[in-house]
Amino acid sequence: MDKVNAEIARRMQSEHTKLIPQVADYLIGAGGKRLRPILALAAARLCGYRGDRHVYLATAVEFIHNATLLHDDVVDESDLRRGKPTAHTMFGSKPSVLVGDFLFARSFQLMVATGSVEVLGVVSDAAAVIIEGEVLQLTAANSLSGGEPVYFEVIRGKTAALFEAATKAGAMIAGAPGAQVEALRVYGDALGVAFQIADDLLDYGGASAALGKNAGDDFREGKATLPVLLAYARADEAERAFWKRVIEKRDQRDGDLEQALEIMTRTGALADARARADAEAARARTALDAFPDGPLRAALADIVDFVVQRAY
Ligand code: IPE
Ligand code: IPE
Ligand code: MG
Ligand code: MG
Repeated sequence: MDKVNAEIARRMQSEHTKLIPQVADYLIGAGGKRLRPILALAAARLCGYRGDRHVYLATAVEFIHNATLLHDDVVDESDLRRGKPTAHTMFGSKPSVLVGDFLFARSFQLMVATGSVEVLGVVSDAAAVIIEGEVLQLTAANSLSGGEPVYFEVIRGKTAALFEAATKAGAMIAGAPGAQVEALRVYGDALGVAFQIADDLLDYGGASAALGKNAGDDFREGKATLPVLLAYARADEAERAFWKRVIEKRDQRDGDLEQALEIMTRTGALADARARADAEAARARTALDAFPDGPLRAALADIVDFVVQRAY
């Protein structure tokens, strides 16, 4: 990770404008969990890789992630990220969008630096899928009618695709056999789905200070996340009207968030969403059975536990 962080610092520079490193460092320098690059490195090492090219992969993946965050915070009109005011509130939306584009472009240079056309293929496919997920969410966000199928399509796109690409491409850089590449692909996909369900739960139960972003944002934006969809599916007529008003019409009043929480708790929607995250976590752990016991496999299993138990 020291090498990844050095590569990140080098690649966010620009010979032509100071604004790029300024905006990029504002977000990237604030840290974040660096989960995706860790996954890429660990997957490659788990498959016995001894070289350094996985550093380029890990950096590419973190750049894609940060590019999507710059864009996502504009789209979601979010005010807080990594414990700081979002880049668009500090520098404006235009610099945020353009520096996001720059980070995307840099990520493609880094994919090329891995020296593997196959890795370039996997990660660039993921980049397209992430944006499809974000756009699908944009068109479906305030609708309860898409239900679970649309929700899972959105989160597989916007979140799980990058986890999946990180671990799968890590295995590919190691030249791992097909069964191991597939095991790490499944691990990344399941982990990513669990991660986003946990994230959606934190929006209703988390503490903004620990999260570094504002809890309750999803509700205020009228996002039909899994806890909402599960509560809606088991709602009586009055509750259905409530969900339609706050999510679809985004007509929200004082006390609505508290009422949403009360309904989601009483109907078991929160507990069931948690159970879904746990089921995905179990699927991720099972995928690791393709590898013998060892510290890297144990580390990847620990990441699964972290992702579903995390408070940030
Ligand atoms: C935030 O991801 C975006 C989602 C997919 C929910 P992370 O929670 O991994 O963000 P950082 O990098 O740690 O800030
Ligand atoms: C983040 O989605 C996914 C991407 C940035 C592609 P969200 O909008 O759900 O995540 P947060 O809550 O802003 O981190
Ligand atoms: Mg967002
Ligand atoms: Mg979003």
